Amino acid sequence: MCGIVGYVGMKNAADILLSGLSNLEYRGYDSAGMTLLDDQGIRTIKIKGRLQNLIDRYEESGRPAAGCGIGHTRWATHGEPSDLNSHPHGTAKVSIVHNGIIENYLQLRAFLEGKGYAFTTQTDTETAAKLLDLTYKGDPYQAIAEAMEHLEGSYAFGIVFADRPGRVYAVRKDSPLIIGLGEGENFIASDVPAILQHTKYYYLLDEYEIAEIGADSVTIRDLEGNPVIKERLTANWDISQAQKGGYPHFMLKEIHEQPKALIDTIHPRIRNGLPDFAADGLPEGYFSRYKKIFFVACGTAMHAGTVGKALIEKLARVPAEVDFASEFRYRNPIFVPGTLVVVISQSGETADTLAALRLAKAQGVDTLAIVNVTGSSIAREADHVLHTYAGPEIAVASTKAFSVQIGLLYLIALELARAGGQVNNEKAAGLTSELLATIGKTSEVIREGDYLSSLADQFVDTHSLFYMGRGVDYSLAMEGSLKLKEISYIHSEAYAAGELKHGTISLITEGVPVVGLITQSELLPKTISNIKETRARGGYVLIITKEGFEIDCDVYDDIIRLPAVPDLFLPLLSVIVLQLFAYHVAVARGCDVDKPRNLAKSVTVE
Ligand code: M6R
Repeated sequence: MCGIVGYVGMKNAADILLSGLSNLEYRGYDSAGMTLLDDQGIRTIKIKGRLQNLIDRYEESGRPAAGCGIGHTRWATHGEPSDLNSHPHGTAKVSIVHNGIIENYLQLRAFLEGKGYAFTTQTDTETAAKLLDLTYKGDPYQAIAEAMEHLEGSYAFGIVFADRPGRVYAVRKDSPLIIGLGEGENFIASDVPAILQHTKYYYLLDEYEIAEIGADSVTIRDLEGNPVIKERLTANWDISQAQKGGYPHFMLKEIHEQPKALIDTIHPRIRNGLPDFAADGLPEGYFSRYKKIFFVACGTAMHAGTVGKALIEKLARVPAEVDFASEFRYRNPIFVPGTLVVVISQSGETADTLAALRLAKAQGVDTLAIVNVTGSSIAREADHVLHTYAGPEIAVASTKAFSVQIGLLYLIALELARAGGQVNNEKAAGLTSELLATIGKTSEVIREGDYLSSLADQFVDTHSLFYMGRGVDYSLAMEGSLKLKEISYIHSEAYAAGELKHGTISLITEGVPVVGLITQSELLPKTISNIKETRARGGYVLIITKEGFEIDCDVYDDIIRLPAVPDLFLPLLSVIVLQLFAYHVAVARGCDVDKPRNLAKSVTVE
């Protein structure tokens, strides 16, 4: 949700900022801009639309060079995407880029207007820029600290002051920011991919810390002005992981990366054939403490939570609930003794999920986070963390993150089941080995998924589509539906198969496509009946099922058969088909697959 980057060094800042922004564009792409700073003062170039527009504008303006600057790629919150509302915002004295939301911006604006400031944009950020103009009397730390006393909301700021060439300032609260450490050059960025080309070393800026970055120095102070000593971290991602590597889109690359991501995430957590979380720091007997599990997350991560609920209730017989983080945080959830709140997040920065985590902690409930991005806010704040090792996920549509999340949920369900005596070691070892065997089949499903591209052509003009399934197939239906709608802009809905006839079946008319998931043998006849009901209304039926299930050919128009792994593990395979289907439909419709309209990868506002 907005990407920010900053540079100080000997190279041309504009080149560094533009390449950094290209690796952050997944965070928003409504507009882009940068401020370059040298002895001549501040020079800002900004423009509505994709980063390429900024690159073109920079070329047209004669490629001005400077050793220092800040850049921004925007996901609009306050004010439409326009040149004027683009970041950076500022005055002759100061220029800022911002990720977050200033919640009290209207009050601040009135206050600043009273001081004689005029406003030209609809953004919340402009108030922060003018506030800094007001508080700056020659001491950047002082000005930033004073401004922070007045700001409410979330922010990561990159700041330059016109009379401080060679210096970039940064501060954050509830929005991520890192400081990249180079040789004779330093950086700020919203996320690691923006700096990987230049360095793998970085500091995580903590809440309310103010940083001054020079080419050869990084000084960090707390709000009282005390120096802060930071631990230097090393990124475990390399730049090739953050590039397309020959694939036309990040999404396709990331779908193909799933077998490796699963192996990297699951294998280190298996010892002597059984799940083992000792290396993650989970204490002995950890899972035997819990009698109730809450899964809390957003979007695709929430769908992973619904799979987790099904697995835990089935294997461990421990009751589980799943909530959208945005609902959970405002519904005053009831925590009984022995509750564990599991938050799931690829980015580890999703604002609602972070707030839900904080709420659980504030009420004294134990928390466990499943997170892909090391060092993210959720990873740092949860009582315990299980990292997924999917590598950077750049496409806005989440794919490999979902697979590794559910991969870990199998292990958690097994551990809960062992702890509660629902499965013995022998049974658990058998299931673990079936999990590994299923992971081994994921490459096959991806390889054989090419035919989905010709199938997808049939859906180019589709306006509306339904997904249906029962049990975990319903979870997968929700995930398939989200994937399709977010990248192809086709309206789609997911239904628990038995629910369709309680109203929605009225929308099934001649040719309306229905994707039916039938991967669970115990539910096979029930789901088939529901699918027949839609077919009887003229629906076009595509079935995703498992090799060996007997389904009459008069039930469907098209069928996709998955390898015959045990039903329990089919979600790991069916999701790949759903992802590839959504991908190919979006490509066939000429959509911008990696950067769908109105979306951003990391939703750091509520
Ligand atoms: O980073 P997170 O996993 O917390 O993100 C949650 C959702 O924003 C995310 O899964 C979103 O729904 C994706 N665009 C789905 O593809």
